[in-house]
Amino acid sequence: MDHNGSEEDHEMKDYSSVYAGRVDDIKKSGRITAVIDDREVVIFYHKGEYHAMDIRCYHSGGPLHLGEIEEFDGQPCIVCPWHKYKITLATGEGLYQSINPKDPSAKPKWCSKGIKQRIHTVTVDNGNIYVTLSNEPFKCDSDFYATGEFKVIKSPS
Ligand code: FES
Repeated sequence: MDHNGSEEDHEMKDYSSVYAGRVDDIKKSGRITAVIDDREVVIFYHKGEYHAMDIRCYHSGGPLHLGEIEEFDGQPCIVCPWHKYKITLATGEGLYQSINPKDPSAKPKWCSKGIKQRIHTVTVDNGNIYVTLSNEPFKCDSDFYATGEFKVIKSPS
């Protein structure tokens, strides 16, 4: 096989699934945080589904585990507590509202900025939650706050 492309910024490791917490706990609180392979993530439990993503918001590193979940355009989103950016739980897309300047009376439309927050895979087995980090090779804005000098790992309490 010939890999002719340039190296991507995001490390392409093969991650394995890592224990993140108990189903009973996330069902009580709606969210848990965990450090998975040296990366801090938040796992949300919303309407029977689990969603894991980088804990720090792609915009300026806000604490997403302290945000509220709301629906926009039928998509459940975490709303960052710092500047209210909306991030879809399922895909990590940043949503914004757009207004047509040629038709200011028209209803604002929800649009996507693309994937901004890195989403990770959650599996559940025997009452335990496991997270496998994404190894998608694209550069995601939230990587900036999840790696390098901005990375903040809270010590376990
Ligand atoms: Fe999240 Fe600004 S840090 S919206």
